[in-house]
Amino acid sequence: MMTKIKSEPTFHPRERAFLVGVEIYGRRELLSLDASLQELSLLAETAGLDVVGETTQKLNQPNSQTYIGPGKVDEVKALAQELMADVVLFDEELSPRHLRELERALGDGIRILDRTALILDIFAQHANTREGALQVELAQYEYRLPRLTRAWTHLARQAGGGAGRTGSAGGVGLRGPGETQLEVDRRDIRRRIDHLKAELEKVRTHRRQYRTRRNRSRIPLVTLVGYTNAGKSTLLNRLAGADIYVADQLFATLDPTTRRVDLPGGHVALITDTVGFIQKLPTQLVAAFRATLEEIAEADLLLHVVDITHPNALAQAEAVYKTLEDIEAGQIPILTILNKIDQLDDPAAAQGALVNFPNAIAISALKGIGLPELLNIVSERLFSTFEHLRVMIPYQHGALISLFHELGQVERFEHVRGGVKIEGKVPLRLVARFQPFVITPSVNGGEAGSLLSQEVSTTGESPEIEG
Ligand code: GTP
Repeated sequence: MMTKIKSEPTFHPRERAFLVGVEIYGRRELLSLDASLQELSLLAETAGLDVVGETTQKLNQPNSQTYIGPGKVDEVKALAQELMADVVLFDEELSPRHLRELERALGDGIRILDRTALILDIFAQHANTREGALQVELAQYEYRLPRLTRAWTHLARQAGGGAGRTGSAGGVGLRGPGETQLEVDRRDIRRRIDHLKAELEKVRTHRRQYRTRRNRSRIPLVTLVGYTNAGKSTLLNRLAGADIYVADQLFATLDPTTRRVDLPGGHVALITDTVGFIQKLPTQLVAAFRATLEEIAEADLLLHVVDITHPNALAQAEAVYKTLEDIEAGQIPILTILNKIDQLDDPAAAQGALVNFPNAIAISALKGIGLPELLNIVSERLFSTFEHLRVMIPYQHGALISLFHELGQVERFEHVRGGVKIEGKVPLRLVARFQPFVITPSVNGGEAGSLLSQEVSTTGESPEIEG
């Protein structure tokens, strides 16, 4: 248990936040309690809060009512008053009940926020495109609906909007017979949620059309992924000579930005910058951003940017892999890039870092170190690395059959019932697209296409295509 306080409280127009971190014994976290709290402090600053103090508690399990124990609640209350904190910020997602009980226990005049609400707020500040803004607003309402209390609604209206600064809760609805204000508010929010979902669907239909056009263009898509603040935007700026907003703060980039980049050998690729990842990414956000994140799943190659100077670089990388798996992008070829090597005191440190990340390439996006080598590897991965495949593609996936012919090297081709069997090589970046149709040897020595095993076994033909 530990309490840190910043000295001399001063008046400031920014809101003052007191942080609370909890470690639950036996629960595996990517970051230590201190590191996670440090990250929360950065998030708070990014959101425009002044951090005035923090406290931590280790528990066997969260208190069912107030998350932290009753003694700790009293301590937080006293410290928050002494430090003139406006906000008490928890490094956890609080359930509606925890939030309600804490509001009651800490009293009027103190706003309780959790990590999720804070990240949602930062996202709301940084959403520039219409889709981004709609997604965040939807996530905010979905987060707030079960947490709506009379006090909250009242305060939120005073503050001038329902979901942060992205809009009101659909205006003050007219109260029906026997309806409480709270019921009216909930009804308004549900209506707003429906409206946002409908709007999002329209925007997405448009994006799907764009994506189909892009797929047809056959220009490979490379997507930058990485923990927030790793240097993705800086790298894209460098590679594309573009002018993308770079800031030493978390989640400066929210909406995907795509640029065309020339590669060695006269090749071209589209490189997209995406939203940074973070440990404990709020579930609402993952859900709301699923469509945007799915763009990652469509990439031919992922460039995973790691800030190698960060003390928690390994844990951050792990958080990125986990999110990639969550959005089913785990099978896409990935190249790890260790960034900010200009900040390492001694060049041997970069070599040392490579031990933890085999096959990674060390660069400095800011100083332009290692970029020609990076582009060479990207070009090689996209255009010169081939993988041998045996697939069984149904006729209804004719586009994939043409793709194999166009960009791959066909060694054997055979019409079978319902489709074609092809054996040959395809560029590494396309392997994921053919994966569902790969023929795997079956236990009895034959083979089966994962989708067409039925047809294969009923044709009774010899399964082997010897090359
Ligand atoms: P999010 O938008 O939060 O996902 O961040 P990002 O990954 O796009 O990072 P961004 O490019 O905004 O860079 C974050 C900070 O790191 C900025 O202050 C950059 O100037 C700095 N930075 C990026 N690359 C390097 C580098 O190679 N060396 C050094 N010293 N700083 C770098």
